[in-house]
Amino acid sequence: MSARKKGTTLEDIAHRLGDRHDTVKRLVNGVFVLDQAEKERLFDVSDRAPGRAFAFSHLYVALTRPGFQEFLGLPADWRRQDPTPNPVPKGSLDNLRRVLIWLYGSKDDGVQPVVTSQNPHLRMLDEILQKPIARKTMLARSKLTEAYMLVNTPAVQFETALLNAYQNAEDALAKVSGYDGADVSLLEAASTKPDYSTRWWRRRKLTPPRRDAYRILSDIIDYRFASVPPRLRGVVKQVDARNAINAFPHCERRVSLVVTSPPYLDTTNFEEDQWLRLWFLGGPPRPNTRRGSDNRHVSEEKYWDFLTEAWSGVGPLLKRQAHLVIRIGGKRLELADAQENLHQSLEDGLEKKVSLVEARTSEIRGGQLKIFQPDADGVAKEHDFHFALGL
Ligand SMILES: C[S@@+](CC[C@H](N)C(=O)[O-])C[C@H]1O[C@@H](n2cnc3c(N)ncnc32)[C@H](O)[C@@H]1O
Repeated sequence: MSARKKGTTLEDIAHRLGDRHDTVKRLVNGVFVLDQAEKERLFDVSDRAPGRAFAFSHLYVALTRPGFQEFLGLPADWRRQDPTPNPVPKGSLDNLRRVLIWLYGSKDDGVQPVVTSQNPHLRMLDEILQKPIARKTMLARSKLTEAYMLVNTPAVQFETALLNAYQNAEDALAKVSGYDGADVSLLEAASTKPDYSTRWWRRRKLTPPRRDAYRILSDIIDYRFASVPPRLRGVVKQVDARNAINAFPHCERRVSLVVTSPPYLDTTNFEEDQWLRLWFLGGPPRPNTRRGSDNRHVSEEKYWDFLTEAWSGVGPLLKRQAHLVIRIGGKRLELADAQENLHQSLEDGLEKKVSLVEARTSEIRGGQLKIFQPDADGVAKEHDFHFALGL
């Protein structure tokens, strides 16, 4: 409180502590919610189930998750706002009481908490709260495993297992240059896929469908030129986005709109993915599948650092008021995570406050990979964001 009065902001404190993940803000949000619950006599820390230390982190971590936020009537961008006392709306106080009992139990009522460890219980409860039927069951019976069965159905379990298998195969492929050929038995394990496919075709006396590359291209050309090209003239440069300001020095502080689709997390080797376009431009006639040249981003932390650097390369070009429209995706990237990390990377990279105007998710229907391999897995969803600067 005294720091508040003296005019020290949370940002100052977080900055001084080197806090890049909103830890300070999260703690303060947690304290405000707990204060509110105690003031409203919904909960008392000393009433928690006996024999346990008070795990405050359960509460402040829960408050960062979308299921809990919605259940408590907190706006989706709550975490980005400055913490204020009594954040939970009056109409959601009953839900706040329930959350606190689920997290900490109650000595007086002889109720044990359902969350005894953050991982996996807190995550399970968050997923339950996001799914109406599971939430209803949880409200009615307060049984975590029972309600979670309505989230994690056999169909979902199968999908997860399949996606994990795919991911593991991709990871193995990315490390294939580490194989020195010494252990020949490994080849058998690795070659099951092509073997299996050809056997499958032969046994059924089938031949794979031929794909007419020229018809596909001609369809794409029709699509691209369905409307006449714009009459505006522009300049195209092939540069690293992190150096954008050096490539366009005459545009300093003159840009009011950036539309971009940076690389996706954990998705692709762009060189391989773009082989057809590159061939048109005089490149080799076959995709380069050498994994050594793979430039995909696999580490989440490094990925967001990369985007932060890209925004700082673009930042000096922007007007005081500007818009950024960004499309990203990734096999492991959900909208809420993408939004939060992107927002943070923008504010870190641009060193300015940025506000979210709109966020949307779309399913990918087409794409080069899907045209040539219609049943290929890949990025299933893409997220689009509109952020505004100085508005
Ligand atoms: C998701 S794709 C977007 C493709 C784009 N929409 C198009 O139609 O060509 C990301 C693109 O960013 C490029 N890229 C990767 N790292 C970059 C960097 N540091 N600076 C600029 N572009 C980069 C990749 O080569 C790839 O073409």
